[in-house]
Amino acid sequence: MRNGSWPDALGAALARIKRRGYGHFAKGTMMALKKLVAGNWKMNGLSSDLAEIKAIADAARDFPAVDVALCVPSILIERAARAVPNFAIGGQDVHFADKGAHTGCVSAQMLQDAGAVLTIVGHSERRDAQRESNDEVRAKAQAALSCGLEVILCVGESLEQRESGDAVKVVERQLDESLPKGDCSHLAIAYEPIWAIGTGKVPTVGDIGEMHVALRQRLIARCGEPGSGVRILYGGSVKGSNAAEIFAVADVDGALVGGASLKAADFIPIVAAAAEAA
Ligand code: PGA
Repeated sequence: MRNGSWPDALGAALARIKRRGYGHFAKGTMMALKKLVAGNWKMNGLSSDLAEIKAIADAARDFPAVDVALCVPSILIERAARAVPNFAIGGQDVHFADKGAHTGCVSAQMLQDAGAVLTIVGHSERRDAQRESNDEVRAKAQAALSCGLEVILCVGESLEQRESGDAVKVVERQLDESLPKGDCSHLAIAYEPIWAIGTGKVPTVGDIGEMHVALRQRLIARCGEPGSGVRILYGGSVKGSNAAEIFAVADVDGALVGGASLKAADFIPIVAAAAEAA
């Protein structure tokens, strides 16, 4: 990250690009990127939870082969960033405008001022409850990147779209329409099937692999060669018990974790699985 350890880490990862056996996902990128495991605390977290953030940050230091981040409620960012100064704290959303008459909203500069080094944009819970369109998500991603934040941009299909066989087409289109223009080196994509979020349901590794390869191809088509360096995270009911299997899938470069990121005891096994897969 520009303000932390990620750019160096990504550079190091790129420098040790190695060929991987891709088996049936032969079209996957041939690069092994440093994995990113990001927690999404959603609307959870009070002052009393700063000790848990510290426990997560301390334990994460044992896994330098993995980038670890926590995206916490915006009101907690400053205290979290102060509590864990060398750990990546992020926001969960950002407004697309620099400033102005947007009651209740937070700008990219405000996130950064509070100590955030990244932000999620386009989470399905916001696309749904706040009716965020692809255009709006793109503008948010653009605003955050322009300000120097890393961005995790979320895409994912509904159960209905999955069952009708349209999942890949729908998600490719979401990516196309939400992807900001220009430099993609500070961007990660999170593929989060809506029906897998918080439900305990997870797609088959075949379905995850198919989607991640499709996303990789779209990223390369849109960004050129740098598209092969954009990390594609999987999100949706990731736990310590299924993380290793998910991280073994081609083009899965990490995870965006909701419920299992709230406690170090649940989150760190996922980080450990990512380190094992690195
Ligand atoms: P979950 O949430 O891990 O609780 O399914 C993931 C997310 O919404 O980012």
